[in-house]
Amino acid sequence: MHKLLKEVVKVYTQFQKLGPTYLDTFDNRAITEATFEAVKTKQLQEYVKKEFKPIGDVSMLPIHLEPEHRFTIAMFALRPGVRMPLHDHPNMFVLSHVMNGLGEREAWDVDPIDHHQQIEFRRNKGDSRIVKGIQYPKLQLKEGDNCYTTPNKCNLHKFSNIHESELFIFLDVILPHYNGVDRVINFYEPFSEDQLELMGNPKTYQRHPIDVDDIREFIVQ
Ligand SMILES: [Fe+2]
Repeated sequence: MHKLLKEVVKVYTQFQKLGPTYLDTFDNRAITEATFEAVKTKQLQEYVKKEFKPIGDVSMLPIHLEPEHRFTIAMFALRPGVRMPLHDHPNMFVLSHVMNGLGEREAWDVDPIDHHQQIEFRRNKGDSRIVKGIQYPKLQLKEGDNCYTTPNKCNLHKFSNIHESELFIFLDVILPHYNGVDRVINFYEPFSEDQLELMGNPKTYQRHPIDVDDIREFIVQ
C-alpha cells in the first residue's frame, strides 16, 4: 500500500505542476504495478474481509481518503446484473483494477465541439441536453484486468456486472477526486450511436457515497 500511495502522490504532484493534460500523457505503468501489488497485500485483503459489507446495488468501501479531495482509493462492488450509470470524471484520472467477477466497461468522450455544452450545463445546472459523443469499443473485464479514464480519453464510463451470481468488484484509484467546484459528476444516457443525453442525477442509481469530509487517513497502511 505504501508503494501505491507513493506513486499516487508522485502523479498528483506532477498534476499540480503541469495541469490535467499530464494525466492524459504520463506513463501509468508504475501506478498500475503498485495497484496490482497493493491488492495482493495481506493488510488490504484483511481490511476488505473485515470491513466490506455489500449493501444495495452498488457498494463502496473507502480504502484511502485524502484531505482537500487530492485523491481517493476505494473499492466498489456491483451486484449481479447491476449497471452503473454512465458518468464523467472531469479533469481526473481513474485507474480501475478488477478484483473479482466479470464486468463490462462502456466508455465515451464528449466530442470537443460540444465541450462548451458540458461547461454550461455544470455552470447553470440546466435542463438535460443532447451532445455529440465518441464511443469506444466495450471492454470485457475479469480479475486482474485494468482500465483507465483520463481527462481526454474514456472520460465517461460505466461498469456493468455481467456474471449471473458473483459480485463484480474493482479498486479505483481516483486522482484528483471530485471537489464539487470544477470537478463535479455529471450523468449521461446514450441517445444514439454518436449522441449522448447529458442530464442530472438518475433517480434509479442507488449509491452509498463517500463522505469526503469524514477524512480517515491511512485506513490501510
Ligand atoms: Fe467512475
